[in-house]
Amino acid sequence: MFSQVEEYLIAQQSAHLEQLKDFLRIPSVSADPERKADMLTAADFVADKLKAAGLDTQIHPVDGHPIVTGEWRKAGADAPTVLIYGHYDVQPPDPLDLWTTPPFEPEVRNGKIYARGATDDKGQMLTHVLAVDAWMKTVGKLPVNVIFVIEGEEEVGSSNLDRFLEEKKEEFACDVAVVSDTSMYAADLPAITYGLRGILACEVKVTGPNRDLHSGVFGGAVTNPINALTQMLAKVQDDEGRVLIPGFYDDVIELTAEEREQFAALPFSEDDFKKDLGVNAVHGEPGYSTTERRWARPTFDINGIYGGYQGAGPKTIVPSYAVAKMTCRLVPNQDAAKLTAALKSLLESVCPPGIKMEFREYHGCTGHVFNTSGPHFQAASKAIDFAFGKEPVMIREGGSIPVVATFQEIFGVETLLLGWGLNSDNLHSPDEHFHVANFQRGTLASAKLWEELGR
Ligand code: BES
Ligand code: MN
Ligand code: MN
Repeated sequence: MFSQVEEYLIAQQSAHLEQLKDFLRIPSVSADPERKADMLTAADFVADKLKAAGLDTQIHPVDGHPIVTGEWRKAGADAPTVLIYGHYDVQPPDPLDLWTTPPFEPEVRNGKIYARGATDDKGQMLTHVLAVDAWMKTVGKLPVNVIFVIEGEEEVGSSNLDRFLEEKKEEFACDVAVVSDTSMYAADLPAITYGLRGILACEVKVTGPNRDLHSGVFGGAVTNPINALTQMLAKVQDDEGRVLIPGFYDDVIELTAEEREQFAALPFSEDDFKKDLGVNAVHGEPGYSTTERRWARPTFDINGIYGGYQGAGPKTIVPSYAVAKMTCRLVPNQDAAKLTAALKSLLESVCPPGIKMEFREYHGCTGHVFNTSGPHFQAASKAIDFAFGKEPVMIREGGSIPVVATFQEIFGVETLLLGWGLNSDNLHSPDEHFHVANFQRGTLASAKLWEELGR
């Protein structure tokens, strides 16, 4: 039976690549209000594919960008129900001039498809739709019941998804969730990710004089907001990389000796890591390896900072205001809301006289580590081994997918994070791409997974 599915997937490879290209041509940037219509086009695209696969499909309007669902529940009462999650929104494509070809004009070069969203998450998400479609077109049914939930607000914090899922608590009861929105460990080493970091995202604006001032006439007599902001931000982290927000480490669960050993046993070259990033040294919290810092330690990062004169040549001013965008990566058990408040009060306490501070909270979610002992992880491992010719390693990752904690809270299920991407795929970066071979292997692994989970 499975051989039919596999043959079909092989026969459809070029058609499937064309479908991915069509998807990638839609500039579904959730953060950009100008792209609202494109978001609807992308939601329609997903709904059409789910419908064509034979699923009951719905587009649910929410406060932000719509959520698309697709269901098929005829596998029988004994068969497990799988909730498949993905996102059709993408990051902004900027800086545009660093793309070799335009971000929404997909092109295949050297076995990789280049476009914004190729790996994060359109290409990865589509593998599951195509795998379901292949079963339906050949065998005419699936070994499992499926519920697809594809949202359009992941890159902006998934702010409407929790409420939606809460409303569907009974309707969407399931046995396991499946998400392909992470990475393989290396090009020749597939992985199952059993832990993700959480996040808090916020912004601070400091305002001094009511207008830009001549720095000769006024400089030295009023607080310069950019000077003030940099001094304030310097108090959030020490030079070695420890975060100084009061209480920041209180709830952190330390790595066990066993987990540290598992991390250390993975192939990793610090030299290659540095070379790839073009840096002459790694840097981070003392006492932890690079892998530990990336997967299991909390951070503070300034994502962007602006104010004053940004144009060509010099300009002698005391600017009126300055802004910084910041995120902390969090580990399991740290509370995003509590730490956002703590960061805000730290900044307030170090805000100098003559400066007005405004603080804006964006979004937050907790980190999560899954219990991998159940049969679902075994099934996923087998499916990946089948498609990639190699057993996956178990890893954690440092990125965040807010909904995975929600799946645990609302449905009491673990999430199988099966990444077909690579960290070198330039996600969130210019020249984002996805290896066509991983697109194909991922689709095959997904098809095999339904069979394995159905056993
Ligand atoms: N797919 C990523 C998350 C990811 C990437 C996890 C690589 C593991 C490895 C996701 O689309 C993403 O970018 N999430 C945001 C979440 C945020 C906007 C709430 C992130 O991690 O910055
Ligand atoms: Mn993603
Ligand atoms: Mn992303």
